Order: sequence, then C-alpha cells, then structure tokens
Amino acid sequence: MSRFDKIAKEWDMSDVRSELSKNIAKTLIKNVALDRSMSIMDFGAGTGLLTSHMLGRVAKVAAVDISAGMLNELSQKDELKEFVTPYCQNIIHERLKDDFDGIISAMALHHVEDTDEILRVFYEHLKDGGFLALADLDREDGTFHAHGNDGVFHFGFDRDALHVKLKNIGFKEINFTTAYTIKKDDKNSYPIFLLTAYADKISQSISSK
Ligand SMILES: C[S@@+](CC[C@H](N)C(=O)[O-])C[C@H]1O[C@@H](n2cnc3c(N)ncnc32)[C@H](O)[C@@H]1O
Repeated sequence: MSRFDKIAKEWDMSDVRSELSKNIAKTLIKNVALDRSMSIMDFGAGTGLLTSHMLGRVAKVAAVDISAGMLNELSQKDELKEFVTPYCQNIIHERLKDDFDGIISAMALHHVEDTDEILRVFYEHLKDGGFLALADLDREDGTFHAHGNDGVFHFGFDRDALHVKLKNIGFKEINFTTAYTIKKDDKNSYPIFLLTAYADKISQSISSK
C-alpha cells in the first residue's frame, strides 16, 4: 500500500490542497484555451481536486493514477461520475489507447523517478497541437514534504532545465508562470509553477524524414 493509498481518505480535508488546486486551475484556465469538445488526461489525478475544476470546461477527463485508494475517493464523487474515467495504471509501462487534446497535472511530476521518460510519454499521448499544463514545485531544499520524502524523487524542478527537456522532446510554445506560493511558516515558502507547452508533431515528423 502506497503512502497515497493510506492518506487518500483525508486528502481532501486539507485547506492548503484545495486552495492550491483552485489556484492552479485558475492559472490554467487563464493560460490555456479549453473547450467543451476536449478530451483530456489528468496525470496523477489523485482524488480529483484539479479534475473537478474542469467540469463544464472540457468534455471528459481520463484520470490516471497508480494509487487505487486515491482514485477510489475520486470515483465516489457523484458530480464526476459521468465526466471522468479512472485508470489505475502506470502509463510509462502501459500506455492508454486514446490520444488527448490536452494533459493536465498537479503536484505529481516530482513523484515520478524518470522525468525524461514521463515527459516523452505525455508527448506520445497528445494529438498534434495538444497541450500540456503541468504544475509542480520549483526547486526546493527537501523541506516541503513534512513526512520525510517517502516516494519523492525530485525536490522540485529547475524551470530552465525542464524547458530544455520539453523542447528536445518536441514541445513548442513552452511557458512557465507562478500559479501559487505555499507558505508553511515565516521562513519557508514554496512557489508552484504552471508550465504550458504544445505538442508539435507535424514539424517533428518533417524534420525526422
Ligand atoms: C501529491 S499527489 C497530487 C494529487 C492531485 N493531483 C492533487 O493535486 O490533489 C500526487 C499523485 O500522483 C500519483 N502518482 C505518483 N506516481 C505516479 C505515476 N507514476 N503515475 C500516475 N500517478 C502517480 C500519486 O498516487 C498521487 O495521487
């Protein structure tokens, strides 16, 4: 049982998490042109905190997570039943059959060991021109997770380094903005970026010929 399985039932009780997902969603909606015909993936969807802000803005969401406990909480939310399809699987090892108009993600990237591989997998799951809108921690000193960093592979990310990785994979129009800052006490505050980028599949296929 993962740490997320163990804390799934209490996940939504945190005001910090609900405030964070609200602000990530607000920034995402401001920066990405969503429309009601879109089929998107929420990577590391958890209990659906970010997904729920997509209701009425896109057609449907594939909620991907490796924690059955977190997805079980999501599945119990009546308002999401028709809107969301949960997938409890590791898409690095087993990809989904569909391609998506967009991928959203909040605070999941630092839990995935191989950043290059998961970014490549995101690219593969996008249609040409599909968007990636991903929020995570800026580089931090390892003090963000009070529980001792179990399951944490990265202490946040350097924006420039992520930019290079995305560009090398074939993303274009890569932008970063600060979506929210979590203040734990007077000394420690943790900015959260939202990166937006678009899959450029046509130029990639021309340049590889
Ligand atoms: C910090 S939680 C964020 C959950 C949700 N996005 C939110 O903002 O409340 C990170 C989530 O990523 C999931 N996760 C970790 N590694 C994953 C992987 N390789 N594939 C899919 N989900 C993963 C965890 O199970 C957990 O639900």
